[in-house]
Amino acid sequence: MIDTSVYRDLTYGLFILSANDGEKDTGCIINTVCQAASDPQIITIAVNKANYTHDVIVKTGIFNVSILAEDAPFGLFQHFGFQSGRDVNKYENCTMSRTSANGCRYHFVHTCGFISGKVIGTTDLGSHTLFIAEVTEAGKTGSGAPITYAYYHANTKPKPKKEEQKKKGFICNICGYIYEGDELPPDFICPICKHPASDFSPLE
Ligand SMILES: Cc1cc2nc3c(=O)[nH]c(=O)nc-3n(C[C@H](O)[C@H](O)[C@H](O)COP(=O)(O)O)c2cc1C
Repeated sequence: MIDTSVYRDLTYGLFILSANDGEKDTGCIINTVCQAASDPQIITIAVNKANYTHDVIVKTGIFNVSILAEDAPFGLFQHFGFQSGRDVNKYENCTMSRTSANGCRYHFVHTCGFISGKVIGTTDLGSHTLFIAEVTEAGKTGSGAPITYAYYHANTKPKPKKEEQKKKGFICNICGYIYEGDELPPDFICPICKHPASDFSPLE
């Protein structure tokens, strides 16, 4: 038996993953950055294949991750996490980021630091690709506390409204999307943030 609710107890940070498709900057929210080795300096990121940022990194092999701080507003998560760079230019008029030596954007507001990665290997994980990357640059951008997934759920993400709580259905723990119905199909994917059925909880 695999009780996927246990996954909710895994501790994560939250990050903006940025890349450049050759014409424009783009990026998305991820929670899957991990320092994997220290000599050489290696990080890993797991990115959903449905994400535009995924396709750009497959093409270029270059990215930045900005480590989000607790003061990051919900709007920042909506902007980078609830819409796709296929449909919008996420960095148009963005004054909270600048370009690092690798040509990708990093955020210097609402962040603690950034890390530049150059992909040296990939593993196909089905829904996601695991990118293994050498660190080419890293720097501090702020002194605030890094945001955790638990902090995001408790403080950043708006609570469901009273009338939504009365509905029968399931709520996406990531973005708050509500699926109405008695049963959530096991292969359901959130249309907003692309997270799977295991990231939904029943409305109480
Ligand atoms: C809190 C939060 C955490 C997320 N974590 C991940 C993640 O670890 N990996 C991933 O591929 N997508 C993750 N997403 C979903 C993407 O950010 C989202 O699907 C985004 O709209 C993709 O944008 P793109 O198509 O421009 O790349 C997360 C979203 C949120 C709001």
